[in-house]
Amino acid sequence: MKNIRNFCIIAHIDHGKSTLADRLLEFTGTITDREKKDQLLDSMDLERERGITIKSHAIQMDYTHNGEQYILNLIDTPGHVDFSYEVSRSIAACEGALLIVDAAQSIQAQTISNLYLALENDLEIIPILNKVDLPSANPEEVTDDIVDLLGCAPEDVIHASGKTGFGVENILEAIIARIPAPKGDPDAPLQALIFDSVYNSYRGIETYFRVFNGEIKKGQRIKFIATNKEYIADEVGTLKLEQVVKKSVKTGDVGYLVTGIKTAKEVKVGDTITDAANPTKESIVGFENVKPMVFAGIYPVDTEDYEELRYSMEKLQLNDASLVFVPESSAALGFGFRCGFLGMLHMEIIQERLEREFNMTVITTVPNVSYHAYTKKNPNEILLLNNPTDLPDPSRLDRVEEPFIKASIITKSDFVGQVMSLCIEKRGEITNQTYLTTERVELTFDMPLAEIVFDFYDRLKTVSKGYASFDYSPIGMRESKLVRVDLLLNGTPVDALSALLHADNAYSIGKRIVEKLKELLPRQQFDIPIQAAIGAKIIARETTKALRKDVTAKCYGGDISRKRKLLEKQKKGKKRMRQVGNVEIPQEAFMAVLKLN
Ligand code: GTP
Repeated sequence: MKNIRNFCIIAHIDHGKSTLADRLLEFTGTITDREKKDQLLDSMDLERERGITIKSHAIQMDYTHNGEQYILNLIDTPGHVDFSYEVSRSIAACEGALLIVDAAQSIQAQTISNLYLALENDLEIIPILNKVDLPSANPEEVTDDIVDLLGCAPEDVIHASGKTGFGVENILEAIIARIPAPKGDPDAPLQALIFDSVYNSYRGIETYFRVFNGEIKKGQRIKFIATNKEYIADEVGTLKLEQVVKKSVKTGDVGYLVTGIKTAKEVKVGDTITDAANPTKESIVGFENVKPMVFAGIYPVDTEDYEELRYSMEKLQLNDASLVFVPESSAALGFGFRCGFLGMLHMEIIQERLEREFNMTVITTVPNVSYHAYTKKNPNEILLLNNPTDLPDPSRLDRVEEPFIKASIITKSDFVGQVMSLCIEKRGEITNQTYLTTERVELTFDMPLAEIVFDFYDRLKTVSKGYASFDYSPIGMRESKLVRVDLLLNGTPVDALSALLHADNAYSIGKRIVEKLKELLPRQQFDIPIQAAIGAKIIARETTKALRKDVTAKCYGGDISRKRKLLEKQKKGKKRMRQVGNVEIPQEAFMAVLKLN
């Protein structure tokens, strides 16, 4: 145990976490050149393409230092705010963290939020100034920033480059010298923390854990405390590049477990594994059920594909327990599902996986957050609204609450004004403003989560010319003046286009949605009136004009081979388009509310 070190790498997105992890794996001989792929830890295709780590994984390295053999367990953490709960459990499985800071970008919002998580878990922090090879690197200044943030000595900051491999040996030595060995009692009842799980279509769910006390043995009868279920440990082992089967995994170590569990729902990140016959009295603290933050409808483009969509979603859920869905029906779109996601990125990933892995063509409707409504009749009973169409009639409504977040934004002082205006426009209230240095400011706001869902990131990027980083955490529900804005196409309400908006902005946003829809709806043989309404009151109107006859003639007449080409192009890949009444609505129209200028 004294020669084990468990650590994670925390950083703001793109500060070079995955690249540096690869260098550590190479230097310790954990991967050979032949096995080397860029960003080895990102094993899903999708992850590699998007260049972000979606799921966390663990890998064990052997390292000899001064004649002593060490086991270094690196636990990788996802870098996006949608997955912050997984980050927190990975951190809880470690004694130390490498805090990577880009030598050109310096400290950013997620550097700080991840650092706080690590400090809450009493981790030893090893600060690393990364990308020192960059011509734009600012090593002295950024080192000062780190020293200010951590209260460490400048000599504690290790200079490194994931690109050239500079500093990697120093990092390994610091891991051994500064990060404490795990504590724990090998003779106590088993107590292990689940920090991740992965779906394998042959073996079922593989559970990743860190043993705090006791050991976990092959063939042992084990119990998951939060779900209160018992299993046999069919296989246990440690995680090298491949899994290494072992008879047992002991106190302080990190490993995997196969129990024949088939669905991700049974394995909850943060749960504690113990011995069924001799259980531990305490579970490891910090377990939470992850809650979806963003909801949207997913509908098949072809109504006949509904059953196939259900099958695909069930399959997806087997390996992504954070995806939740219930059947719903929409007057406009027919049968589909209301789905809950961890955030907008998670939503995009699910949609993409449905298309790639299951060959489904789907329409995703306007995303919304989850509201609480209270009726006059039952003012104490929460009505959970995951769909704007469920909002009770205003005459019956007592009040509505919406989720709020604490948003933290780090930007250059030049952009403070613009960032503040944006946040205020987004109904934010400033709660703090701290100058990290003379040029860099941290702003904190209380803001409605819904405003983050609606095109916040893009706007922030624009107003700050890219010099702003952003992070948030939920702070609970607050009462809010919300109204439902309905959209009518050709006089017919399209329920899937409805959105809940704050009463103060409803008119102006309703007007902008209508204008945007006019741009997005393809012209047809007739005029299409587009209207926004609150209750019976129309608040905005535009018209998509009919195609003129001669234009059509030009388009479809002419030489036959061109026409055939066109037809073939249309056949290839169903268009993401739904017919509602006699109006064709393309996928983008459902997202219009997110893309208002
Ligand atoms: P996430 O996993 O998405 O959080 O990002 P990350 O922190 O792992 O960053 P990643 O390793 O993907 O690196 C981000 C970008 O920086 C990539 O384009 C890398 O090639 C580049 N990069 C990483 N380390 C270095 C470095 O030391 N020097 C230079 N010049 N570029 C680097």
